[in-house]
Amino acid sequence: MSVQFETRGEIALAIVDRPPVNAIDASVRAGLLEAARRTGADPALRTLVIACRGRTFMSGADLTELGSEIPPPTYTEVLDALESCPKPVIASLHGTALGGGLEIAMACHYRCSTPGARMGMPEITLGILPGAGGTQRLPRLVGSVPALELLLQGTPIEAVRALDLGLIDEIVGDDPVSEGVAFAARLLALGSLPRPTRLRTERLREIDNAQLQSILDRHARTLRGRTTQHLAIRAIRAARELPFDQGQRLEAELSAESLRSPESLALRHVFFAERECGRVPGIDTSTRPAPIHRAAVIGAGTMGSGIAMALADAGMDAVLIDRDPQGLERGLRLIRENYDSAVKRGRMDAATAQARQQRIHASLDFEQVRDVDLAIEAVFEDFELKRAILAQLDALIPPLAILASNTSSLSLGALARATRRPERVIGLHFFSPANVMRLLEIVRTQETAPSAITTGLALAKAMRKIGVVVGDGFGFVGNRMMLDGYFREAELMLLQGVPPARIDAVMETFGFAMGPNKVNDMAGIDVGTRVRAELARREAREQPYHAVSDALTTRGRLGQKSGRGIYRYEAGDRTPLHDPELAQLVGDLASKYRIASREVPDSEIEARCVLSLVNVGAQILAEGLACRASDIDVVWTSGYGFPRSRGGPMHHADSLGLRTVIERIEALADTGGGSYWKVSPLLAELARDGRSFADFDRSRPPET
Ligand SMILES: NC(=O)c1ccc[n+]([C@@H]2O[C@H](COP(=O)([O-])OP(=O)(O)OC[C@H]3O[C@@H](n4cnc5c(N)ncnc54)[C@H](O)[C@@H]3O)[C@@H](O)[C@H]2O)c1
Repeated sequence: MSVQFETRGEIALAIVDRPPVNAIDASVRAGLLEAARRTGADPALRTLVIACRGRTFMSGADLTELGSEIPPPTYTEVLDALESCPKPVIASLHGTALGGGLEIAMACHYRCSTPGARMGMPEITLGILPGAGGTQRLPRLVGSVPALELLLQGTPIEAVRALDLGLIDEIVGDDPVSEGVAFAARLLALGSLPRPTRLRTERLREIDNAQLQSILDRHARTLRGRTTQHLAIRAIRAARELPFDQGQRLEAELSAESLRSPESLALRHVFFAERECGRVPGIDTSTRPAPIHRAAVIGAGTMGSGIAMALADAGMDAVLIDRDPQGLERGLRLIRENYDSAVKRGRMDAATAQARQQRIHASLDFEQVRDVDLAIEAVFEDFELKRAILAQLDALIPPLAILASNTSSLSLGALARATRRPERVIGLHFFSPANVMRLLEIVRTQETAPSAITTGLALAKAMRKIGVVVGDGFGFVGNRMMLDGYFREAELMLLQGVPPARIDAVMETFGFAMGPNKVNDMAGIDVGTRVRAELARREAREQPYHAVSDALTTRGRLGQKSGRGIYRYEAGDRTPLHDPELAQLVGDLASKYRIASREVPDSEIEARCVLSLVNVGAQILAEGLACRASDIDVVWTSGYGFPRSRGGPMHHADSLGLRTVIERIEALADTGGGSYWKVSPLLAELARDGRSFADFDRSRPPET
């Protein structure tokens, strides 16, 4: 039974107990409905308290019910019963009251909360408009403008703020059951009556267009390329303009529309894909990760210092080692500046920042690694150097400790062979800045033991990153697709005379926060050049392969950091400006490679950038370098800025239909890309069989 009904004298209690997060399913709804009816019908009972066991109040709908017919009783039935109960109904909140959970709380007559509880409507992050009266009750409780803000921001608010807004009536002590009962007793003593939210209209306001625009502007970054916000605006306006029941009917229609939208399908795809990548086909779910308490990071450069912060932020001790005292000092300065700026911006309190910095121990002495559970090397990208460092670490760290490399381009298998523990060697491919970026590619070789992989995944989780297990191939998954697909096409278009700003604008309209040329300038053009030089030693590529970037690197035009790259920058300003010198350089290269200028329409720019990702992605899948198409989507949405609202390149291909994708790829054959526009055999096979990448994922063997 998900809901227990108890009585404490004249107070009825409905206690929801559905671990782990009290997700609302049919059994919870039925239990609450029954509790409302019993309380209403029993003359001995004067009030009903709804509280939850475990770590949280109901934190949303059971997502497995999403997208299908919701089994009875419906939300509306249950919420109407609570709201129309002739006796006061109280929700006692703790943990997080989110989505459907908050909608239930809002249908109650009163709400109390523990001091640490948080409340919110996160549906918009999945492209969904709430459908259980939330858009009609929230503005009645907090006012129209704050309600719209809460719906658009998606992130929860603290209890103090909720009290301020009128979302809750009182902040009480920490035990939701006893505090809820005590709150109810106080209400009874005061003679408080039922107070249906639907009847409260005093805070409903018209939102004028200027106000609306300023709200939308504030959320512009997260809502780029999205549409659910417009449904939310209609619903919130309806709360003022229509009687409650009509408003609720409109909400139901808009909510159903949101659930069918490609945007919501894509966002939900990414949500489930991120959960899925923690399960690796062929690895027993019971394979325990090794505990990591203390880790060593070798190389205190950009990456090493970021990794040390990520470890410290996750509560681990990190020994940061460099051979060069100046390198070490530079790394420590970077760390200090980072934490100082977090404190200054109000992202962290000073005590937390200090505690985290104290977990990082700097040293010039390799002996300090003797007692670590994990050692990560992040020294210069040089094969012999990395081999030597790994061999040295191998001799020093405990026999069962994990040895990791942050290489972006070298063969992990070859590096692992420098050690006596190839089965405990993994790649941990962090992205820069390592303490911020969510993606972590966990690279395995043929020899990597399952427990080393699960340790990598557990480490990612502890760092609140998304770990995606990838194979030891050219550029792993993300960089391979970027280099062989997206950026290669962007460069070829430069050679064909397309202005960089046009390419960027098209890809930004597609939904990337920044177009490829701006990204290249921001990351540092030399970074890619170095990676490619290393990769070129492993596998050849058809020329011209990133000829523009390589020429820019040779000329010291390294992007933002040198004031010039693909664009030009004024000192102290990151605004990319047109640079006529680029056209000259590109023109020379085009003549060298005999590449003719072409008129490239916007639709072709998008197709070349996006479909190249799909085609290379399919190739990677066929090579077994990614476990699933959805893992590729996670890599691209969490590490490379592919719009989540399009679900990642492979989901995007599915949404276009793979036959259409193939037709479009075939139509690109004459765009100058040489032989690489050949349709990947896996893509061709799936399209021929009328299957999708999602079907491909479903047909893979599950974890054992
Ligand atoms: N910069 C990026 O965006 C990025 C992204 C992913 C991965 N990586 C990889 O991370 C690694 C480090 O890159 P980075 O950008 O931080 O380089 P960096 O040049 O900023 O730092 C390298 C550090 O390693 C130290 N070092 C060199 N030899 C050493 C030795 N023998 N013992 C101890 N310390 C030594 C240097 O003194 C320097 O402080 C490389 O393998 C790179 O490919 C970089």
